[in-house]
Amino acid sequence: MKRILIIHGPNLNLLGEREPDVYGRLTLSDIDAKLGDAAKKAGVELEIIQSNHEGAIVDIIHAARGNHDAIVINPGAYTHTSVAIRDAISAVGVPTVEVHLSNIYRREEFRRHSFIAEVAVGQVSGFGADSYMLGLRAAMKLAGAGE
Ligand code: DQA
Repeated sequence: MKRILIIHGPNLNLLGEREPDVYGRLTLSDIDAKLGDAAKKAGVELEIIQSNHEGAIVDIIHAARGNHDAIVINPGAYTHTSVAIRDAISAVGVPTVEVHLSNIYRREEFRRHSFIAEVAVGQVSGFGADSYMLGLRAAMKLAGAGE
């Protein structure tokens, strides 16, 4: 069975309460449940992790090497600051899809640059919780599962 790792970065544990106009009213558990259902239907095994800590996210990415067939990551604010997370993704070589709930190109100027984009296979940005569902679908393809 193919294995996909979902990484939620900082502040995403507050989804549902945090700026609902920007990020929607679904909680992280709601999103995880939707992802879990889709993975079950596709016969894919999911591991889902949330961390507010940059170094912990680097460790999680390292552990994916040889363990997971693809990664879906919402790096949160680390998208715009973290060379360490960028380098970890590049180092492990596990195909990675970058996702964002909001459209990072329609917001503040500082959100328009992603350090992750150049090491990700692709990016999904602006579709709320559906960004994760589309990201999972892309990751399943990269992993060689699904259609
Ligand atoms: C985010 C966008 C980032 O700019 C922001 O810092 C987040 C969430 C998104 O999912 O839209 O924490 O990654």
